[in-house]
Amino acid sequence: MSTADARERIDEGGDEPGAGGSDSVQGMHRAVVREHAEPRDGFEPIPFWVAAVCGALLMWGGFYIGSSSADFRRDVYDRTDLVGLTSGPVAQPPDPNPRTVDDLKRVGEQKYTTICASCHGPQGQGNPATNVPPLDGSEWVAGDQASAARLSRILLYGMTGPVTVKGRTYNGAVMPNQGNLLKDYEIAGVITYIRNSWSNKADADPAKPAVTADEVKAARAKEGARKANGSQPVTADELLKLKLDHSDTGAAPPPAKK
Ligand code: HEC
Repeated sequence: MSTADARERIDEGGDEPGAGGSDSVQGMHRAVVREHAEPRDGFEPIPFWVAAVCGALLMWGGFYIGSSSADFRRDVYDRTDLVGLTSGPVAQPPDPNPRTVDDLKRVGEQKYTTICASCHGPQGQGNPATNVPPLDGSEWVAGDQASAARLSRILLYGMTGPVTVKGRTYNGAVMPNQGNLLKDYEIAGVITYIRNSWSNKADADPAKPAVTADEVKAARAKEGARKANGSQPVTADELLKLKLDHSDTGAAPPPAKK
């Protein structure tokens, strides 16, 4: 009990008029002040409806964060990768389309080292022991059997069955397809690389490679529904029926003759 309250009690006890008892003006005023304490600014009691609204908002906020936080992963709501998106599937930047022998070789060398070298050897020498024919000096790569249409198909679909390279027939091993692994420009790159490496010098004009992404694309289009998943490899016999004159749609310049 505070001292002010104590004094109040005493005052109420002494009830003489004019002595500040409950009947006096001061006494009544004291009672009013005591019962209805003047609220201090900023400390007024909160009306029930405000508390209810705040509580509801808090619950809604918690529910919203809980259901939409996406585990707070930044990649979920980061929409910067959608810049430029109009409608439909996410816009992909177009593939590069290298058009000089050097640019294609640069793309192709990296692919050759990681994919082809394990079978055909780092110098394109092949491996007779495992029935893998050479690429260096091969007539199919840079010689008189070479064409964009044939090379594109070997790379796109893989190759199987007997094939004669540099006077020796290789048979039994399968060349794996690259068509679902590499893009057209990468296939053109690796073809241009093997055509112009080691002793192979097929593209005489560095500005006019015989095989660019266009030829590979044309070969794909010509083969239509043929699967590039390795289940439908080409054979040498089939390739020999293809004209050497690049009559595929879209196929442009004939390969430089050696
Ligand atoms: C798993 C081993 C293997 C890999 C990897 C491989 N090849 Fe072959 N490649 C072969 C075999 C085996 C043949 C012969 C297929 C046949 O007997 O019909 C062949 C044939 C070829 C031929 C035609 C024949 C010749 O020697 O001229 C070319 C061109 C060729 N491969 C290029 C490539 C290129 C480029 C790559 C890399 C993208 C590659 N190969 C990856 C095994 C492989």
